[in-house]
Amino acid sequence: MRLLVVLIITQCLVYSSAVLQSFDHAPNQDGSLSFLVIGDWGRNGAYNQSQVAFQMGVVGEQLDIDFVISTGDNFYDNGLKGIDDSSFHHSFTKIYTAPSLQKQWYNVLGNHDYRGDVEAQLSPVLSNLDNRWFCSRSYIVNAEFVEFFFVDTTPFVDKYFTQPEDHVYDWRGIRPRNHYISNLLKDLDMSLKQSNAKWKIVVGHHTIRSAGHHGDTEELVNHLLPILEANNIDLYMNGHDHCLQHISSLNSEIQFLTSGGGSKSWGGDVSWWKPEEMKFYYDGQGFMSVHVIETELNIAFYDVFGNVLHKWNTSKQLHSTL
Ligand SMILES: *[C@@H]1O[C@H](CO)[C@@H](O)[C@H](O)[C@H]1NC(C)=O
Ligand SMILES: *[C@@H]1O[C@H](CO)[C@@H](O)[C@H](O)[C@H]1NC(C)=O
Repeated sequence: MRLLVVLIITQCLVYSSAVLQSFDHAPNQDGSLSFLVIGDWGRNGAYNQSQVAFQMGVVGEQLDIDFVISTGDNFYDNGLKGIDDSSFHHSFTKIYTAPSLQKQWYNVLGNHDYRGDVEAQLSPVLSNLDNRWFCSRSYIVNAEFVEFFFVDTTPFVDKYFTQPEDHVYDWRGIRPRNHYISNLLKDLDMSLKQSNAKWKIVVGHHTIRSAGHHGDTEELVNHLLPILEANNIDLYMNGHDHCLQHISSLNSEIQFLTSGGGSKSWGGDVSWWKPEEMKFYYDGQGFMSVHVIETELNIAFYDVFGNVLHKWNTSKQLHSTL
């Protein structure tokens, strides 16, 4: 009993001192930042993954992108088996070969990644194999006037814990789960409050709002969304549903953007959604681009042919009201 108490206290101390690690990524000299967003992709090029990759290369060139963001489910069906899993080569290095895509990739983990060896995807060994690769559970990328908050959403989802017979998950580093989640939320809230970036973008694998196959993720609606709303974030970007989608919140400024069309798509199971919130839904493969300057943010969605399917923009005053 005494040992247990000591253990719990030690863990509390460790967790309460945790802060999200932050990495700097300088914007362009001209004060702009451009990037692509892709999700749910690693299938050895199958299901149009290679076609999407080709068009990303074209658009990446046009926009002269700074980096690529992956919204997770990086390797199907069961993540990576280990650091020497050849899927890393066949689903990533050998697929995204265009010169414009030879940039930093900021990745998060999806639920399929948790079905493999998670620590392999987090390992610096992969970054040595392909120096574009960066993956961590939750972290910050600070691009001065834009700040990105990457959130590990898989541990939030109850059914992965309550129906473990369905799949095997690698929960090393996650337990005790309640501590993991509450400390992550606390750290995220603190980091968002401290941020004085003009634009705040949050990235996770799971949906918050979605008319797609999985729909809303209730655990994130209940626990993550209130923090995002309280801190006036601009965009929440996710994958998980294998579609392209833009939902505008009526209660806040948040835009919910799904970019989960990196490979297998055409699920055909879209639900009805309030038309005043649903700006765009596409059931097929594709990806998203974001171009942002201090006063304006532009997004666009593309299909496998590189056609622009949907565009949206918003602006802010030059001088911050801080
Ligand atoms: C690949 O994309 C084309 C064009 O959208 C589509 O017709 C086709 O069904 C896709 N293939 C797969 C396997 O999803
Ligand atoms: C922003 O969107 C408006 C329509 O909502 C459009 O008229 C304008 O051209 C767009 N601006 C850019 C830079 O795309």
